Amino acid sequence: MWGGRFAEGPAAVMREINASIPFDKRLWREDIAGSKAHVTMLAAQGVVSAEDAEAIRGGLDAIAVEYEAQGVPEDLTLEDIHMVTESRLAEKIGAAAGRLHTARSRNDQVATDFKLWTRAAIDEVLAALGTLQDALIARAEDHADSVMPGFTHLQSAQPVTLGHHLMAYHAMIARDRSRFADARARANECPLGAAALAGTGFPIDREATAAALGFDRPTANSLDSVSDRDFALDYLMAATQVSLHLSRLAEEFIIWASQPFGFVSLSDQWSTGSSIMPQKRNPDAAELVRGHAGRIAGCMTALVMTMKGLPLAYSKDMQDDKPPVFEAHDLLGLSIAAMTGMVESATFRNDRMRALAESGFATATDLADWLVREAGVPFREAHHITGRAVKAAEDAGVRLDELPLDTLTAIDARIDARVFDVLSVDASVASRTSLGGTAPVRVREAIAAARARRDEEMGR
Ligand code: ARG
Repeated sequence: MWGGRFAEGPAAVMREINASIPFDKRLWREDIAGSKAHVTMLAAQGVVSAEDAEAIRGGLDAIAVEYEAQGVPEDLTLEDIHMVTESRLAEKIGAAAGRLHTARSRNDQVATDFKLWTRAAIDEVLAALGTLQDALIARAEDHADSVMPGFTHLQSAQPVTLGHHLMAYHAMIARDRSRFADARARANECPLGAAALAGTGFPIDREATAAALGFDRPTANSLDSVSDRDFALDYLMAATQVSLHLSRLAEEFIIWASQPFGFVSLSDQWSTGSSIMPQKRNPDAAELVRGHAGRIAGCMTALVMTMKGLPLAYSKDMQDDKPPVFEAHDLLGLSIAAMTGMVESATFRNDRMRALAESGFATATDLADWLVREAGVPFREAHHITGRAVKAAEDAGVRLDELPLDTLTAIDARIDARVFDVLSVDASVASRTSLGGTAPVRVREAIAAARARRDEEMGR
């Protein structure tokens, strides 16, 4: 490809370090789409003849059929997907193939291909996250009234409902989707036509190629066009954020599936056995989702480090942009699908969640609030009185709502029998009606709103 200037071929190691075909063959569809748009524009502008353009497009279509059937040949001497395809085109249609690369460089070519690929990857993630949201909404609705302990510091804090807890993840995923949507909008400018770095003297029409490839517009600056990888970083940062959320949900499933909690039993499809301990049902998929977050964050860090300090414009370091994005995308796709499957198929044990919610004095705040509301006690004092009630219940080995009234009145004479209306976990949960609170009426409103947004989005 650069034979004109070099007398000797590259050393074997040079060839190997230089070649990206083992991984960038994944861009073959985008490469062919970009080339077809480019040559069509060249013909419309009179830069190549209509016959040559026709031959090139026909050859590229035939190559697509070959790749689809047999895969992309991994010829290291041809370096990358761009050269592999161009050389195959020359074998198929002869000299006209050499006109395709007019007014173009591999620098704007690869930026265009990779942007097209990343845009499609974002669309896949958006759809997969939408399916996860549907699963969370459905299970939240099943469990809008199911009481469980709410935790802070993983200590039983106040009762909540499982529906509310699941909708918290729905809120995280909604932010994740908006991050990906932002990234998509920013990425959707076409670098094709920036050529090597400076633009070109040929009378190209960048608006036409941008439109043909579904971009909103061409990029503004040729130097930036060939050296910008923000779109890949945006993808990786958004992917990292999703993976953090998924890892937290995975961790909850792991804790909930443990015997001391027993809040959830994972379906057979989503558990694995142990080779020596027949009683085991291990949450391996959840553990791997938790683990994948580390790898995805690693991919993000890899590209951040690659891009750091690179001068304008293209440098070969940037060839290393693709493996971390591909790896992160594959891991993320698996993680989202696995969490979706676990959420859809898990059996939540209402009896266990309720028993633990009732055992941790989780309605202590309700007693304190009652003293403030019904007896005019300042909150700090109410907190102190409630602490003594908790101690009495702990000593007696009973729940707060099982304490005899005279024990409570002995602690503070302002307490009366009406207090029992607020000491049950159901009463506690039902009372949390503030906007965004855990009361089942509020949770059902949140579920209805989330479902309406999804239905509108999906046109159903
Ligand atoms: N395989 C290269 C990459 O992915 C294509 C661009 C090569 N450009 C160059 N000037 N060597 O980055």
